[in-house]
Amino acid sequence: MVALTAARRELLARQGWDVDRRGLTGAPHIRVVMSELAHVAIVRALRVLGFGLDTVERIPVDEYGRVRTDAVPALDDRTILILQAGEVNTGEFDPFADVLPVARAAGAWVHIDGAFGLWARASRSHRYLTDGVDLADSWTTDGHKWLNTPYDAAMLIVRDAQALSSTMNSDTAYLSGDGDAQKNLTLELSRRARGIGVWAALRTLGSAGVEELVDQCVSLAQRAADGLRGDGFTDLNRVVLNQVLVRADTPEQTIAVRERAVATGQTWFGPSMWHGEPAFRISVSSWRTRAEHIDALVELLRQCRGR
Ligand SMILES: Cc1ncc(COP(=O)(O)O)c(C=O)c1O
Repeated sequence: MVALTAARRELLARQGWDVDRRGLTGAPHIRVVMSELAHVAIVRALRVLGFGLDTVERIPVDEYGRVRTDAVPALDDRTILILQAGEVNTGEFDPFADVLPVARAAGAWVHIDGAFGLWARASRSHRYLTDGVDLADSWTTDGHKWLNTPYDAAMLIVRDAQALSSTMNSDTAYLSGDGDAQKNLTLELSRRARGIGVWAALRTLGSAGVEELVDQCVSLAQRAADGLRGDGFTDLNRVVLNQVLVRADTPEQTIAVRERAVATGQTWFGPSMWHGEPAFRISVSSWRTRAEHIDALVELLRQCRGR
């Protein structure tokens, strides 16, 4: 929400429109272009900010769930383009290296939702997935997913620091003069020091530790996919990262397997849909997950399917 607010404010400022003083009524129209698979968190932020969901231009995706480069509409300097590093069901990455140079040349603001996927960049084996992502204007990622910090440790990075601190500025109220004080970077004035958990995790793991965490989870996701395929489940994604998306033979069987598995108390799946049909998604992201846990999960699902 903060990133999109900064994006809109900055694009309007470039059109000579001071949104802080004049508001949105009569303002130049700011377009939003995003993947048809954008996460619900993005959709909600747009709705809350008053963008109007019917006005959002949705880019169709390819068979893997990445935006189709040939379907990206013409972009301009009144456009916010939202792409994702790590689609929640498939773990796929939009083709940044193809789209971002064009978006940048057009003067669009590009925001990347990298809630879990941006961490692929810490791995030498998987960072290719993020190639070109550094050309964006803003990025969000979570500590509470792959970094395994306690909940609500999220990070927003904005290329133009001034665009962020001007958007969230509260110095008129508090006159401290610290442009980049925390209260000038987030929605809250009062907040606990959530960054400490993130700092501690990064300080403890180091870049080698984060890389190992990422690589281990990806390899375990692959193990889960291989095991489930061997047991007759159908793969719905290719495992590029830590997400495994599968279904059983029929929608009814998929739902039944999920419900039986959850009823054992040994695992938990949230319901997921893929191309309009029920599926279940495994996101391997805990530092504690080992091969034996994956094997036990595969065995549990095999039993639940066989019943
Ligand atoms: C791709 C993606 N974007 C956004 C979010 C929402 O992130 P948060 O947990 O920080 O609200 C998630 C969480 O599931 C996600 O997977």
